Amino acid sequence: MTTDSKSDAINNIVHFFLILYHWIVGIILTLVPRSLRYKDVKDQTVLITGGGSGLGRALACRFAGLGCRIVIWDINAAGMSETAARVKKIGAPVFTFQVDISDRQAVYETAARTKQIAGPISMVINNAGIVTGKRFIDLKDEDIDKTMAVNCTSNFWIIKSFLPDMMKVNKGHIVTISSVAGLSGGPRLADYCASKFGSCGIDESLRYEMKTEGYDGIHCTVVCPWFINTGMFDGVKTKYMGLLEQDYVADEIVSGILVNQEIIVVPRLIYFLLFIKSFLPTQSSYYIIKLIGGDTAMMTFHGRHNKVKQG
Ligand SMILES: NC(=O)c1ccc[n+]([C@@H]2O[C@H](COP(=O)([O-])OP(=O)(O)OC[C@H]3O[C@@H](n4cnc5c(N)ncnc54)[C@H](O)[C@@H]3O)[C@@H](O)[C@H]2O)c1
Repeated sequence: MTTDSKSDAINNIVHFFLILYHWIVGIILTLVPRSLRYKDVKDQTVLITGGGSGLGRALACRFAGLGCRIVIWDINAAGMSETAARVKKIGAPVFTFQVDISDRQAVYETAARTKQIAGPISMVINNAGIVTGKRFIDLKDEDIDKTMAVNCTSNFWIIKSFLPDMMKVNKGHIVTISSVAGLSGGPRLADYCASKFGSCGIDESLRYEMKTEGYDGIHCTVVCPWFINTGMFDGVKTKYMGLLEQDYVADEIVSGILVNQEIIVVPRLIYFLLFIKSFLPTQSSYYIIKLIGGDTAMMTFHGRHNKVKQG
């Protein structure tokens, strides 16, 4: 055996034990209340894209309550003002920037202005998102481009803008709001799922890259929630698992971020369904989707802006 192959064998054994070690630590940590392990984020500056509505607004208010300075990016000025007013009422400093995150140049310019005005960013929450809810065959090229740009590609421009500063001090947190649609496909969600699978890929690759390069102070968290009652998915109908409450999801996300949890799936039942899906034949997996109404959920979707008059 050469010296190289000897050290390869030793490394493999060490890695095998590290897999077991982290597995056991993970199991033990699930038994310790998360609140005992929260990190302190007081005086940190948290940037939330899409903070002018829904989940982004709820997260802004929660981090304001934890003593953070809040930076909001959104295309919707009125929504941002409403969030800013709520954050101010909580007593936290807040900065708002109107920007279309699908415009790469606008992202780079807004990032520079943000740093100038609000100072270094401690945590970035890539939350802004859109959904078309169209059948594959009806998707216009522009729909696909826009969904990919807002939900996925923009994450590159935004992370590229703030990660170098985090790397200089080996401290920071990048949060990606993806979706259960980033873990499983669904009818009328091809563009949305593609963008959300993409955002999960960015998160996982970046996390492994930070670990490989020794940036142990930079954390990456991806969040994959089921449908939430923010209005974005108005009209969807599912079986057994109804739409989640926005406040419940926001609490789960903040709690996960505060313990540097790497993947947050809400509700946790989805972990179980994904585990079953990982070993069942594809034909069977389709019936899991059917069982929870995922095959027809989007048939009644109209979204926030195209409300159908009821009865
Ligand atoms: N609502 C759900 O059921 C659900 C489920 C899983 C994941 N998510 C994800 O959670 C995130 C938040 O969704 P939400 O439910 O709060 O939706 P929302 O529509 O209430 O909020 C999205 C925000 O993003 C902003 N935005 C949209 N396009 C933008 C652009 N080009 N530039 C800047 N800002 C832009 C909007 O103005 C809005 O304020 C999204 O990424 C969404 O995909 C939502």
